[in-house]
Amino acid sequence: MRRTVVLAFSGGLDTSVSVKWLGEKYDADVVTVTLDLGQREDLKEVEKRSRQIGAKNHYTIDAKSEFLKDYVWPSIAANALYEGKYPLSTALGRPLIGKKLVEVAEKEGADAVAHGCTGKGNDQVRIDVTVRAMNPALQVIAPVREWNMSRDEEIAYAQKRGLPVKPSKSIYSVDQNIWGRSMESGPLENPDTEPPEEAFDWTVSPEEAPDEPGYLDITFEGGVPTKADGRSMEPLKLVSYINDLAGSHGVGRIDHVEDRLVGIKSREVYECPAATAIIEAHRDLEKLVLTRHELDFKAQVEREWAWLVYSGLWLEPLRTALDRFISATQHRVTGKVRLKLYKGSARVVGRSSDYSVYDVGLATYGRGSKFDQKSAVGFIELWGLQSRVAAGLSSQVEENKGNGHSRTKAKEAK
Ligand code: ARG
Repeated sequence: MRRTVVLAFSGGLDTSVSVKWLGEKYDADVVTVTLDLGQREDLKEVEKRSRQIGAKNHYTIDAKSEFLKDYVWPSIAANALYEGKYPLSTALGRPLIGKKLVEVAEKEGADAVAHGCTGKGNDQVRIDVTVRAMNPALQVIAPVREWNMSRDEEIAYAQKRGLPVKPSKSIYSVDQNIWGRSMESGPLENPDTEPPEEAFDWTVSPEEAPDEPGYLDITFEGGVPTKADGRSMEPLKLVSYINDLAGSHGVGRIDHVEDRLVGIKSREVYECPAATAIIEAHRDLEKLVLTRHELDFKAQVEREWAWLVYSGLWLEPLRTALDRFISATQHRVTGKVRLKLYKGSARVVGRSSDYSVYDVGLATYGRGSKFDQKSAVGFIELWGLQSRVAAGLSSQVEENKGNGHSRTKAKEAK
C-alpha cells in the first residue's frame, strides 16, 4: 500500500524535487503544506505549483496570527537576540511549521512528515525535534539530507521528470516571515565581503535613507506592543507598519558571524526592521519600570531563552518555565517609547510609564530633591566594609612577606 507523507512545501527547487523523490524512493503519496507566516510570497502560485508537480493534496495555512501571538510576542518579552544580534525570525517559525505538519499528518492519516532542510543547518533540528516530541509515531524524512544531489543534479533530476523548474530569482538562500528576512550563501559566504546592496529587500540602504529623521512611538501593555504612533493596531498590522517605517530609514540590517548548533560558524545577514525597533523599545521600557534586581536576573534568563529557541528546543519544559518567569515580570511593562529613526539607526529618545521606577524627585540635581544626601555616608560605610577589610589584609600580606611572619600578623590586623 502506498503510504502518505506530509511535506513542508515552499515551492523552491528542493521541496519541488522532494515531491517526486518521496514518491519514487518511499512509494508515497505526498501532501504538501505551506504556512503563511507573512513571507510576502504569492502562496496561490505555490499551491498551483504543488498540484502541477503531482501532490495528492495541498494545504495553505494562514498561521500569521498564531505566529505573532504565541511565538513572536514571547520573544519580545524575552528581548530575544541570539548571540546578542539575531532576533530569531527563522528560528521562531520552525516549531510552528513542525506543529502544523503533525496536525495535517494526523488528519491525513500519514505515517511520516518531510521537510526540505539540509543536514548542515539548524532548521532540520527545530522541525525534527518538534515533530518527534509531538508525535513520536511519525517518521521524519529530510530528502536533502539523504539524496546527496548537487544543485545541478537536482535540476537534471527535475527536468528528466518534466517538473517545471523556475530559474531561481536569487543567488542567495532566503527565508522570510513577518519577523524578518534571513540571507545566506553566494558572496555572503565570505565574511570579509560587505553584503552587496542587491541582497537587501526590506530596507533601504542607510545612505539612501531620508535626511530628515523619522519618529516612531511604540506603546506596550503588559510587555506586548499594542499601538504604533498612538494608533491601536492588530498584531499583524502593527508589525507590518513598523517593518515598513523602520525599513524606509534603513533600520534592521544585521551582519552576523553566527554559531550554528551543528558547530559550523556561518555568516548570516538579516533584515529585521520591526524586530530591531520593537526589541530596542521594549528593553528600554523595562529599564524604566523594572528594578535593578529584576533586570539583572532577567538578562540571564533571556540569554538562556534565546539559546533554547535557537537550538530547536521550543518544546523543552525549561523554555515554558522561563516564559513563566518572564511573564511574571511583564505586568508593569506598560508605557510608551519614542524611537528616532535615522539612517540605519533606531535610537530611543524618550520613554514614559505609569509604573516608572524612575523618580525625578530622587534623581534631580535641581532644587527640591527628596533624596537625603547625608544617608549616603552610612550606606557607603557598610557597602565598602568587606572591601576595606580585605584591602587591609592584602597590604598586611605584603608586609609579612618582608619580615617572615604570616598568619599571626594577619590575625592582629583584624
Ligand atoms: N541562521 C538562521 C537560523 O538558523 C537563519 C537560517 C535561514 N535559512 C536560510 N535559508 N537562509 O535561524
